Amino acid sequence: MRMKLWLYLILSVCFMLAVGFLYYSSWRISLRVWVHKSLYDEQGFLLKLDGTLSLELTYKYGNLSKGACKPGFAAAKMTAIYPKFNKLAPVFLDLNYKRFAKIGDYPPPFGVKSQERIIDHLLSVTKNYGLGENLDIISCKTCIIMGNGGILINKSLGQQIDGFDVVVRLNQAPVKGYEKDVGSKTTLRITYPEGAIQKIDQYEDQSLFVLSAFKAQDFKWLRYMVFKQGLHNTNGFWKSVARHVPREASDMRILNPYFIQEASFQLIGFPHNNGQMGKGVLGGGPA
Ligand SMILES: *[C@@H]1O[C@H](CO)[C@@H](O)[C@H](O)[C@H]1NC(C)=O
Ligand SMILES: *[C@@H]1O[C@H](CO)[C@@H](O)[C@H](O)[C@H]1NC(C)=O
Repeated sequence: MRMKLWLYLILSVCFMLAVGFLYYSSWRISLRVWVHKSLYDEQGFLLKLDGTLSLELTYKYGNLSKGACKPGFAAAKMTAIYPKFNKLAPVFLDLNYKRFAKIGDYPPPFGVKSQERIIDHLLSVTKNYGLGENLDIISCKTCIIMGNGGILINKSLGQQIDGFDVVVRLNQAPVKGYEKDVGSKTTLRITYPEGAIQKIDQYEDQSLFVLSAFKAQDFKWLRYMVFKQGLHNTNGFWKSVARHVPREASDMRILNPYFIQEASFQLIGFPHNNGQMGKGVLGGGPA
């Protein structure tokens, strides 16, 4: 009798182990199958970026003539790679920015919360919200974003860079004296108070000055720049800031914070943190 009890016990332990193993391995198998089945990564990007488009998209947008304008092509391709892509976002804040609900709930840098009054004021003075007449009428613009690494030196790419309709530069990226390598055209210079060029003679004559606001203070700073008031108090900035920007109000823009929101939460997968910027994470802004 005692012997039988032992047998039962051993049998049931074996059985439990067997079931447990089956359960565990099937879970692993199904997990593996699931991982393999997903075509997209955690952020929602297509895993296999081989650059081919579905036939449908190719027919719809792919005018294969060299240099042909392909309206909607870039957006279609982006949507194929990244289905969450939302192209309905103006680059700069304009008078309708409050209708763009995605930015109303977050303070800077992800939105405009509590900054509406100062933004209304700024927009009423800048009065321009596009790239400028000459560019706004082009239906198919080419654009290049210049990084600030030294890799361009001695590459003689200046002429090629200038061939783009829109040339975007960031912060203090120098142009004067480096035209052969980096080009001489600047359509937009996107920056923030601590990153902005401080030497007035380093500003190019033709370019839009675009604020990418990281904190509430940055909008106040822009107001000083727009109204050409001397900035005396620089409390609240983490390093010295430009005190004068030699651009007319009509040449100043505010970058839509939606792009920072989208880049941070969707593209990079930044921790959401209730829409507050974590200390020391993005604290410095881009270099
Ligand atoms: C493709 O582009 C060429 C060059 O711009 C243009 O002449 C042609 O009409 C375009 N074809 C279609 C189907 O849009
Ligand atoms: C660029 O070219 C100049 C002239 O040939 C040379 O003196 C300089 O060292 C080069 N700079 C780099 C970073 O290669």
